[in-house]
Amino acid sequence: MSLLDVRGLSLGIAGREELLRDVNLTLEAGEVMGIVGESGSGKTMTALALLGLLPPSMEIRSGTATVEGRTVLEAGARRVHRASGDMTMIFQNPRGALNPTMRVGAQVGRVLRVVRGKTRAEAAAEAVALLRRVGISGAERVAKAYPHQLSGGMCQRVVIAMALAYRPRVLIADEPTTGLDVTVQAQIFELLRELVDETGCGVLFITHDLAAVADMCDRVSVLYGGQLMETATTVEMFEQPKHPYTQFLLESLKPEDQQGEVQAADAGVDFSLPGCRFAHRCPHVFDRCAAFPPLVETNDKHLYSCFLGQEKSLDAAQCSRSV
Ligand SMILES: Nc1ncnc2c1ncn2[C@@H]1O[C@H](COP(=O)(O)OP(=O)(O)O)[C@@H](O)[C@H]1O
Ligand SMILES: [Mg+2]
Repeated sequence: MSLLDVRGLSLGIAGREELLRDVNLTLEAGEVMGIVGESGSGKTMTALALLGLLPPSMEIRSGTATVEGRTVLEAGARRVHRASGDMTMIFQNPRGALNPTMRVGAQVGRVLRVVRGKTRAEAAAEAVALLRRVGISGAERVAKAYPHQLSGGMCQRVVIAMALAYRPRVLIADEPTTGLDVTVQAQIFELLRELVDETGCGVLFITHDLAAVADMCDRVSVLYGGQLMETATTVEMFEQPKHPYTQFLLESLKPEDQQGEVQAADAGVDFSLPGCRFAHRCPHVFDRCAAFPPLVETNDKHLYSCFLGQEKSLDAAQCSRSV
């Protein structure tokens, strides 16, 4: 049994198109799973669905998610069944995730009191210890500061300390280092990695930065236009990508893109079309791509969503560009 198991998750804007279709994800204890994709591919919506935080206009069309076998999400249910400690999330904008009118130590302490039932005195002491744990020097002093008195990197450490206070089984980090400088980014990555090794939690690491994936992730899932294109170990994804979109992504980074930023392929995904979401850009498109491709397994950790390779021989005559 996987720590987190997401099956067939589809999301749509109420009464309108389907933004996320049939997404399958697993996460094991002690594992960092990257979710990579360009802006608008559905990374954040996937995370928000798992936490029951979807915007009101967005609905769960189908799918289930379990944490250690416990159902946390079902289609039709607006609220998730959340047990404290199952899942928590680190957001892109750490300052925005903090309460501007409350000292940061008190914010960490509040989680300890509300979620973990600590007394006020216990929570205050443990909050300082957690701030120290996430690499904040002078933690006693920093605990008394307000968010606006701290740098972005420092705020993200505070947010991670709050996430730790929950003792989650699954931590979702949504572009946690956007806007932070490269040195701080490396420190935050290292901190996340240490936490995984120490606590055995699993991390869904959402990013549009392939260099960060190479650094951080054991496995990676590629999203495009709300479709799970491919999922594989990080090594296999970089060395033997199977999906034409993944190949395109990796190609577009060459020769030497130091930043590893995913380039937008095309803003024009048509969510109302039933077929593969990459068909309009795919160099290998053929008639079958007008239907939605199922996940094909090359081994138990490497799956991709494409009709290519599902037939032994694809001769040129079949490859009509009729999508
Ligand atoms: N509040 C919202 N209501 C309706 N659609 C939204 C909302 N926020 C984002 N979307 C749409 O959902 C899709 C996925 O967005 P998102 O998950 O934020 O992408 P990513 O995190 O990969 O950049 C996009 O097409 C976006 O336009
Ligand atoms: Mg996002």
